[in-house]
Amino acid sequence: MEREDITRNSADIVIVGTGHGGAQAAIALRQQGHEGSILMIGRDTSPPYERPPLSKEYLAGDKGFERIMIRPEKFWADKKIDLRLGSGVVEIDPVAHTLTLSDGSVIGYRKLIWSGGGDPRRLGCAGANLKGVFYIRDKRDADAMMAALDAGSKRAVVIGGGYIGLEAAAVLRKLGSEVTLVETQDRVLARVAGEDLSRFYENEHRRQGVDVRLNTGVSEILGEEGRVSGVLLDSGDTVPCDMVVVGIGIVPAVAPLIAAGAAGSNGVDVDFCCRTTLDDIYAIGDCAAHANPYADNAVIRLESVQNAHDMANTVAKAIMGDKHDYEALPWFWSNQYDLKLQTAGLSLDYDETVLRGDPADRKFTVGYLKEGKPIAFDCVGTMKDYVQGRKMLEAGTEKIDRELLANPDIPIKELI
Ligand code: NAI
Repeated sequence: MEREDITRNSADIVIVGTGHGGAQAAIALRQQGHEGSILMIGRDTSPPYERPPLSKEYLAGDKGFERIMIRPEKFWADKKIDLRLGSGVVEIDPVAHTLTLSDGSVIGYRKLIWSGGGDPRRLGCAGANLKGVFYIRDKRDADAMMAALDAGSKRAVVIGGGYIGLEAAAVLRKLGSEVTLVETQDRVLARVAGEDLSRFYENEHRRQGVDVRLNTGVSEILGEEGRVSGVLLDSGDTVPCDMVVVGIGIVPAVAPLIAAGAAGSNGVDVDFCCRTTLDDIYAIGDCAAHANPYADNAVIRLESVQNAHDMANTVAKAIMGDKHDYEALPWFWSNQYDLKLQTAGLSLDYDETVLRGDPADRKFTVGYLKEGKPIAFDCVGTMKDYVQGRKMLEAGTEKIDRELLANPDIPIKELI
């Protein structure tokens, strides 16, 4: 189909979601010579931009919007990639190959790539809708929070000790706010990391002046005249504040796909080349549940830029007839204060950890083993370990000498 088809409300390839996955799928399709029409549809009102800076440099005011755009605005028009922003998909008809948008318009597709990501999990307690409660998922969220900071909000309660909560806490401290961080588990980063890393970041945040409260949730957000005035914790304590930042995970945004009959219980199920169980519909990124070779082929979702990007490339190839299994090595990063964390692999189901270096030096690596086999590395300020650890995981090294791994003077590459 050609561009005129779009005016007739159809496109050869429709991509839903304008985040990392959606944008990269469009870019990769053009790179691989796809000449048909491409239409990207997204609820976001801005052209595609990077999400990680929203809880880091963008929030801190160190990087403006121009610097976080995935491509300059004119790129999309130059590549004949049409953007329909500010539109949500509410229904899919997989037989007719059409989808319905929130404004009622109906769009036809030959192939559909669903890159819908996730919506922030909302607080369910009383007071959750008061003014001054913020989430950080898209640019509008970050802009709203920055406006509140500019308007003088100085005392923040951050709810959730995952990456969003910790990165937001670090930025807020840098901007001079008083910060209390509340986490229901007995350690921060419990979903994604082992105890060594959790304790290190907990201590680091305390050292930077964050009041970290573990093992407690939130009973109520307290308000005065419609605005946040404090948080009542499950522990019974009240923390006065004028801003609440919530980072308690995401819920995969797949409702129209599941309603249309796609299989999925945690997101939407996809096969080795990101096909859903519905004909001509693919899914990628945070919402796509897939068998991951770096997790012993367990069916998981990965919430990361790397996963969105690599799945987008896999889909573009599959649509162009070049089918490859999705088997990219997972990696992540997080910046907090002056610390850079880089993670390679997945630490799911590890049964042992090896500490390499001393966390007190603020420079160390945690190796995760499962039955003696290295499965992941968390590297804080140890770039070489990260690079060499990736190579080790990609090489599939079966067994490793723990004592040698624990010695930071022996390069990891010598143990591959
Ligand atoms: P998350 O799932 O990583 O962490 C949520 C945390 O909130 C967990 O530690 C959980 O125990 C805690 N929690 C849940 N309910 C709670 C409650 N009622 N009260 C207090 N604590 C509660 O999700 P997060 O941090 O919201 O991040 C959202 C997504 O964005 C994730 O996919 C994350 O990986 C991604 N992200 C990644 C970054 C990175 O890779 N550097 C940076 C920022 C976000």
